[in-house]
Amino acid sequence: LEYETFSSIFSIKANSQENYMKNLLEKKNKDSMHAYYNRNKISNIYSTITYFINTFGPIIVLLLSLLFIPEGELNIGTFIFIFTLSSIYFQNFSSIFNTFNTLGTLKNNMIKINDITEQKDTDVYSGEERLETIKSIEFKNVFFSYPGQKNYTLKDLSFKISSNEKVGLAGPTGCGKSTILGLIIGIYKPTKGDIYINGINISDINIDEYKQKIGFVPQEPFVYNKSIKDNIIMNRDLEEEMINKSLESSNLVQELTNMPLGLETIISEGGTNISGGQKQRIIIARSIVHNPELLIFDEATSSLDNQTETIITENLKNMTQTQIIVAHRLSTIKDCNKIIFLINGEIEDSGSYYDLVSNNKKFEEFSK
Ligand SMILES: Nc1ncnc2c1ncn2[C@@H]1O[C@H](COP(=O)(O)OP(=O)(O)OP(=O)(O)O)[C@@H](O)[C@H]1O
Ligand SMILES: [Mg+2]
Repeated sequence: LEYETFSSIFSIKANSQENYMKNLLEKKNKDSMHAYYNRNKISNIYSTITYFINTFGPIIVLLLSLLFIPEGELNIGTFIFIFTLSSIYFQNFSSIFNTFNTLGTLKNNMIKINDITEQKDTDVYSGEERLETIKSIEFKNVFFSYPGQKNYTLKDLSFKISSNEKVGLAGPTGCGKSTILGLIIGIYKPTKGDIYINGINISDINIDEYKQKIGFVPQEPFVYNKSIKDNIIMNRDLEEEMINKSLESSNLVQELTNMPLGLETIISEGGTNISGGQKQRIIIARSIVHNPELLIFDEATSSLDNQTETIITENLKNMTQTQIIVAHRLSTIKDCNKIIFLINGEIEDSGSYYDLVSNNKKFEEFSK
């Protein structure tokens, strides 16, 4: 899964933005597909031509000179002079050809981006069944290992999340929290065991439609080099009212009024002109703006100061949709209906925060 090394992929795919991204890139690189298929061919033709011209060009010029220069004036000196001069000339000529070749390579690099978005065709699921609403998510003896790995990253997970429940995932780093989220949003497929949405096997449901009902904040949030507004809307059909509401819930209003261009501020490549916390909140706004039925936050508030974090957690509490929250700070998930506590890819225990703290030694230790 080489394409996963691009941090953007998780968010692109999670938001079913493959098509959007594809169109965006295709507009800029209409001809790149063509270039990809032709590059090697063209490259071979170019080098054959340049080789031919380099080698035979000077000889041809030499032969021509035999024809056109009057016999008496042709001596060995002129001969060498003509040969050297035409060699230099043809070498320059071939470097122009090489430039074309380089351009072909550049085009080809753009194609690699296309390759990533094209991965949609190999989506792990291709079911048809349409869901009205997400009523429940159930894992039944789910095992998962990443491609090429022997050991299971997740082992025998069984749990059920019902609508309007707020569920926290907790556990030490590397225990498999983000991987579970990847399985829930249908990016990964269980190696063994099954996942059911509303009692229907996830492989039978229309996965794109399902993903559109989800608001997801990945652990490595990704912003596009577009306006803050575009980064929130993400090419969806949304009303102004919804956007304003999402800005309030993600506590962005104040800062936006301080920016001269407000919502129209362009985020630079990689988001270097906004703070980490602003970036996180823009992505929170993106994830909640369409009123998703299921909210999934992977360390979504990790870069925020305690005060801002508390405001957002409070806002989340007041939202009624189903929520699955991964947070390093246990205060963020303290009030969840249920916390699933994981160790090493297995469910160690689950229950309310107070249940776990008072009954589970490992959790008590972990919560310190
Ligand atoms: N794409 C991948 N390919 C192979 N192994 C992976 C991949 N992603 C994660 N892993 C491995 O799977 C295990 C679980 O990773 P995961 O990201 O789910 O942990 P996590 O609980 O989210 O950790 P953290 O709290 O640090 O975010 C880790 O051992 C990790 O090295
Ligand atoms: Mg993680």
